[in-house]
Amino acid sequence: MIRYLTAGESHGQGLAIIVEGIPAGVPLNEDFIASQLKRRQRGYGRGGRMQIEQDYAHIISGVRHGFTLGSPIGMTMENRDWVNWTDTMSVTPTEVDFQRVVRLRPGHADLPGTMKYGFDDVRNVLERASARETAARVAAGAIAMRLLQEFDIQLRSHVISIGGIPGQINGAIDWEAVEESPVRCSDPEASQKMIDCIDEAREAGDTVGGVVEVIADNVPMGLGSHVHWDRKIDGRIAQALMSINAVKAVSIGEGWENVGMLGSQVHDVIEASDDSFRPWQRKTNRAGGTEGGMTNGMPLVARFAIKPISTLRKPLPSVDLNTGELVQAHYERSDVCQVPPAGVIGEAVVALVVADAFAEKFGGDSVDELRRNYEAYLKTLGPRQVVRRSRSSPGD
Ligand SMILES: Cc1cc2nc3c(=O)[nH]c(=O)nc-3n(C[C@H](O)[C@H](O)[C@H](O)COP(=O)(O)O)c2cc1C
Repeated sequence: MIRYLTAGESHGQGLAIIVEGIPAGVPLNEDFIASQLKRRQRGYGRGGRMQIEQDYAHIISGVRHGFTLGSPIGMTMENRDWVNWTDTMSVTPTEVDFQRVVRLRPGHADLPGTMKYGFDDVRNVLERASARETAARVAAGAIAMRLLQEFDIQLRSHVISIGGIPGQINGAIDWEAVEESPVRCSDPEASQKMIDCIDEAREAGDTVGGVVEVIADNVPMGLGSHVHWDRKIDGRIAQALMSINAVKAVSIGEGWENVGMLGSQVHDVIEASDDSFRPWQRKTNRAGGTEGGMTNGMPLVARFAIKPISTLRKPLPSVDLNTGELVQAHYERSDVCQVPPAGVIGEAVVALVVADAFAEKFGGDSVDELRRNYEAYLKTLGPRQVVRRSRSSPGD
């Protein structure tokens, strides 16, 4: 229903994004997208690139007078760094003698990419494998978020560890503190320790990874489905998060913690409630808001682990792509820790999955149609006896 494509190399002229399937009538402007892009650019541990760029997505189609039209939304984003790479990244053949990248970086896309596509210059792979592409995903995700906001669905993220240093894992999260923290961690003491850890890694010419949690609040019960593997919402979220550069593990709710506990301690006890919007409540949310591949009305909670960046200022031993000789791996300006911005990217890709599943469930060409279907569905969610009674007496 809602899908998107991105194009663009890290040091090329820019990024292009098409988002399709957003219904007509969603209020949308460039400022909202810019605010999300700005959040991605922040974060302690980033390299020099973020000082050069000021990401801004220009909407070129699909929006008129501030509202979506239901047609594909096209956006372009300029790479300010392009001016420094015009010859190396020229679209047309160049006479300039630029340097090829041949010293393979373990942990990056360099070796499999050059072998698979038959290149003799790693730059042909690294430019697209670069996480610059995630700026385009944040722009696409901002549009999905804007749609979800119409239904009071909100996505947020926070860092729960960096370099093995734990932040807040349980309890109510102070979201303002998260947005103010340079490492997007709600606990100021833990934030400082994480910053020190990043500084130590930078001084040592090394890098550090971590774990991030994304939470989507107010998601209705019944998005996704149990009937096919590719319709399961937990599987769709895992795929979206795993596709973020350097993400190597994903869990839903307390996925990893639950395996060491008894079933009676793990499952979230169901209670009926008078709340007409949420007639079923849970005492806990260890399942992270999904059961049987469907959302269950509790907050959606997904965690993902990000490995330390593979471009090291003190490089690992490696080999030359052309000669096989022992060399040190390639180094070019790089982040030391990408965990804080990864949270913003995680919010974006989860928003795209949730918006897609929402549009699939409540299908509509306009946001008003979607709303009618959504509100009618919510009325069917109570205990069956209550729902049946109200069905048989339409005058009530
Ligand atoms: C926000 C963000 C920024 C990143 N910055 C860098 C970077 O500066 N240097 C680098 O080598 N890798 C960086 N990465 C990770 C690489 O893009 C990634 O490791 C690489 O594409 C190989 O893919 P894989 O790790 O998923 O296997 C970044 C990832 C994210 C999410």
